[in-house]
Amino acid sequence: MKILVVGSGGRDHAIAWKFRTSPRVSRVYVAHGNAGIAGTAECVNLKTIEEMADFAEKERIDLTFVGPERPLSAGIADLFRSRGLPIIGPDRKASRLESSKCDAKVMMRELGIPVPEFENFSDPDKARDYIRSVGYPVVVKADGLAAGKGSLVCESVEQAEEAVRQIMEERIFGDAGQRVDIEKRLYGRELSFFCFTDGYTIVPMVAAQDYKRARENDQGKNTGGMGAYSPHPWLNDSLVETIMSKVAEPLINGVREKYDILYRGILYLGLMLVEREKEIIPYVLEINIRLGDPEAQVILPRLRTDLVDISEAILAGELKSIQPKWDPDYRVCLIATSGMTKGKRGWYKGYPDRYKIGLPIEGVDRIDQNCLVFHSGTEMDSSGRFVTTGGRVLCIVSSGSTLREARETALSEMEKVSFEGIYYRKDIGLE
Ligand code: GLY
Repeated sequence: MKILVVGSGGRDHAIAWKFRTSPRVSRVYVAHGNAGIAGTAECVNLKTIEEMADFAEKERIDLTFVGPERPLSAGIADLFRSRGLPIIGPDRKASRLESSKCDAKVMMRELGIPVPEFENFSDPDKARDYIRSVGYPVVVKADGLAAGKGSLVCESVEQAEEAVRQIMEERIFGDAGQRVDIEKRLYGRELSFFCFTDGYTIVPMVAAQDYKRARENDQGKNTGGMGAYSPHPWLNDSLVETIMSKVAEPLINGVREKYDILYRGILYLGLMLVEREKEIIPYVLEINIRLGDPEAQVILPRLRTDLVDISEAILAGELKSIQPKWDPDYRVCLIATSGMTKGKRGWYKGYPDRYKIGLPIEGVDRIDQNCLVFHSGTEMDSSGRFVTTGGRVLCIVSSGSTLREARETALSEMEKVSFEGIYYRKDIGLE
């Protein structure tokens, strides 16, 4: 079979790698990939979703799997389906669940799914009035897509008002800030929970712990993710049952029955688990329509079932015939990012603020073969060296029978990698 993976980050590298492990797959193409992905698959420079559909048709691609949210929100699944090209990913209508935080929250409230108290605003003055009127800390979220950085967690009324100013008036996330979702800040344990679904049957995957803040001890700005590990310590059969019955099933069945949305592909629930009178309530903080980055980098290496078989079952509406098998060992993903460096006109603070690119990367070839290396932001220079092109540069995924073992391996292997300003959190997987 020939596979096309859409994406160019670490998650998309992990998806391409997973397809490469399938005995049913002869070729994997990635649009448009990066220097690391080029070592796993054939990168093709396709820019628009139309170019991708033309390529899939011409090359007789058997299956396309979409990594990021933007092409899904742009309607890649609708376009491929209209041309009879098999694709995994929700259509444009279903993509609203990620591309509008405001609409998704309203739908969930109407479907009786646990969400933090919230209100949506398109007028910044009304948003500020609301912030002053509620007696609790809030999170201010840009309505639209903001590469995982659009949620500003606030400690005070002043911070929340400043968040409204930045998002709605300064437009730090562009048009994504036309509206904001302001929700009550919850305290508990975060968990990223994933499912496969064909729109009727929902099959849970394993879960992962993501680390979104830039600095250790969950300090600093929100990023697209600084690391992850799986299995998640809180996820047992009873919690899976709770999340399925209180969130995943009412959501997939509810959007189909009430909003005429047939949701097919991957469902990613960003949950806050709050313990109340010995019961765990899974509040939904966000819905994503795709695999997480960096969660995919720890989940896919644990998946023993062929991703082609699962994808075919989703396409055929036969997901009920699939029971994925998982490796019980731990995986830890540690992300090397572009940190603080000195520029011509002062210091670059480093990801997620400004950072330098084009910096040579050393040591990747010395990483233990038992680890996986997935690239997020790299290219090859004219002398054949990897150089940085993004804030998140590459990750090491280690394994171990304990979280500690996997964590120590990831940290010691990362010491072999160097580039100017390299920064990674040393507390990933430290429980
Ligand atoms: N890890 C966060 C995300 O993928 O959105």
